[in-house]
Amino acid sequence: MKVLVTGGAGFIGSVTARALEAGGHEAGIFDDFSTGHEWACRGRRVYRGDIRDRGALDRAFADMRPDAVLHFAGKIIVPESVTNPGLYYDVNVIGSLRLLEAMRTAGCRRIVFSSSAAVYGTPERTPIAEDAPQNPISPYGRTKKHFEEALEDARPADGLGYASLRYFNACGAAPEWGLGEVREPETHLLPIVMRAALAGKPFTVCGTDYATRDGTCVRDYVDVRDLADAHVRALERLKPGVGNSYNLGTERGTTVREVVAVAGRVLGRPVAFVEGPRRPGDPPELVASCSKAREELGWTPARSLEDSVRAVAEFVRSRGGLEAR
Ligand SMILES: NC(=O)c1ccc[n+]([C@@H]2O[C@H](COP(=O)([O-])OP(=O)(O)OC[C@H]3O[C@@H](n4cnc5c(N)ncnc54)[C@H](O)[C@@H]3O)[C@@H](O)[C@H]2O)c1
Repeated sequence: MKVLVTGGAGFIGSVTARALEAGGHEAGIFDDFSTGHEWACRGRRVYRGDIRDRGALDRAFADMRPDAVLHFAGKIIVPESVTNPGLYYDVNVIGSLRLLEAMRTAGCRRIVFSSSAAVYGTPERTPIAEDAPQNPISPYGRTKKHFEEALEDARPADGLGYASLRYFNACGAAPEWGLGEVREPETHLLPIVMRAALAGKPFTVCGTDYATRDGTCVRDYVDVRDLADAHVRALERLKPGVGNSYNLGTERGTTVREVVAVAGRVLGRPVAFVEGPRRPGDPPELVASCSKAREELGWTPARSLEDSVRAVAEFVRSRGGLEAR
């Protein structure tokens, strides 16, 4: 299939674009490079543009004529969505609706959307299944929920085939493809831990008074290569007029302190941290139930957190550091 990958210069999108090609598909990238990187899309067709720009979208569709879209582009930082919700609604909702309209005009009726565990908010129980109540507690989570609903409305109206993939915490790297997570400022735990370990400087753990086994937040860390595999599987199973949502995680919860311990073990040196206050919009525990993805997509994550840490370490070594450049 010919697949237009929005946000394909970013962390998860770039690894998935490579996985698509490995699976025999063709990937074109649509990205505004606001957080993505040119080095992450070497060797493939790139359309530079903003998903809020309908003209740029139409030009990309007219040129590539894709059979499907993988939609990663968006703003992704939960605390920033609390302080600047307008930006999150503008990009994640209005931009995504523009994309949907451009698809409709171009007659492209298949889409896989990067949704998030943030649609659930603070869950009543874990592990979380897809039919759990959705009460997002951040503007970021609400923008993901709104676009999921827009897809479900477009399904009967446009004969759209869609899959909303609700990732839990993406981590890891694909050093074999020279790809990994590089952001400035860094907001995700594993790269922050790696930077702290490399610099020999402590990082701040946000919140140590949660009602969890060691007071820090419990998250379900899923490797980016496993996420990429799930996208290819979801794409290949899309059917016109049929929509689905899937949780993507490992069904295992790990606390921040445990992540630090795993990183220290793999890197062979302790990682120092200091205890800080909670961040707004962080639920105490998010762990996925993934039986639906297992049964319907035939997907099971193959990598452990140790594997992900090792991959990040290799990626960092190959780049000579984690700073954006
Ligand atoms: N990283 C995670 O743990 C995680 C968890 C759940 C969901 N997600 C979702 O997965 C998707 C990808 O996340 P990521 O971690 O790869 O983030 P990322 O920031 O690395 O990638 C986002 C990409 O989208 C591009 N982009 C942003 N705004 C754009 C716009 N207006 N027009 C065109 N391109 C634009 C950026 O330049 C970047 O290349 C996002 O939609 C995110 O919400 C990520």
